[in-house]
Amino acid sequence: MSKISIAIDGPAAAGKSTVAKIIAEKLSYIYIDTGAMYRAITYKALQVNCELTDESALNDLLAQTKIDLLPGEKGQLVFLDGQEVTNEIRSAEVTNQVSIVAKHRLIREEMVKRQQQFGANGGVVMDGRDIGTHVLPHAEIKVFLLASVQERAERRYQENLEKGFPADLEMLIKEIAARDKLDSEREVAPLKKAEDAVEIDTTSLSIQEVVEKILVLVEERI
Ligand code: C5P
Repeated sequence: MSKISIAIDGPAAAGKSTVAKIIAEKLSYIYIDTGAMYRAITYKALQVNCELTDESALNDLLAQTKIDLLPGEKGQLVFLDGQEVTNEIRSAEVTNQVSIVAKHRLIREEMVKRQQQFGANGGVVMDGRDIGTHVLPHAEIKVFLLASVQERAERRYQENLEKGFPADLEMLIKEIAARDKLDSEREVAPLKKAEDAVEIDTTSLSIQEVVEKILVLVEERI
C-alpha cells in the first residue's frame, strides 16, 4: 500500500489536530501539528523578551532554535531546544499572540522548509493553515475543516472544563474570532482552502463522523 500525504487545514479549534491524530494512528502515519511549531517559537520569544513584531530578531532566534515533534503515549510531544514544552505552548499567553509571529514571511519560509523535511517521505498527516496551499501542495488528500465560531468556542470551552482550566465562553468566542481574522487576512500564506481541498463542515458532526469521511477519501486513493 503506498504511503500518501494528507493535509488538514482550517481555522482555530475546528478539530483538526484531534482528527489528524486519529487518522495518523489508524494508518500508522506520522502526525505533524504545524501549529505547535509556531507556538513553540512564540513561547521562546516571550521567554527571552524578543519583540514579536520584530521579524528579523525573531528570524535570528528561530535560526538558533530546535523544535522537535515526537510521538508520546498520549499524543504528540513538543520539544524546544531539547526541553519538553507540550503544555506550556497551549497557554492563553501563547495562544493569543502566536498569530503575530506566524504572519512574518521569514518565519513562515523557515517553518515551511522544516515542515517539508518532516513530510518528505510521505506517510504523513499534517495539520495547519497553509498545508494544502503551501507546505504540501502535492498532497494526495487535502481537507479543509470548518465549523461556526460559536461551535468551535463551545468545544474549546468543554475541553478546558475537562482539563480543569479556567473557561469563559464569551472570551473564547472573541479570541477565536480574532485569531481567525489575523490568520485569514495576513499577507503571506493566509488561511485559505486549497482549490483541490475537500471542505467538511464539522458543525453538526462528531469526531468519529469526520474521521470516517476522511478515511473514505483515503481509501479511494491508496
Ligand atoms: O493550530 P494551532 O491553533 O495550534 O495554531 C496556532 C497558530 O499558528 C495559528 O493561529 C496560526 O497563526 C499559526 N499557524 C500558521 N500556519 C500553520 C499552523 C499554524 O500560521 N500551518
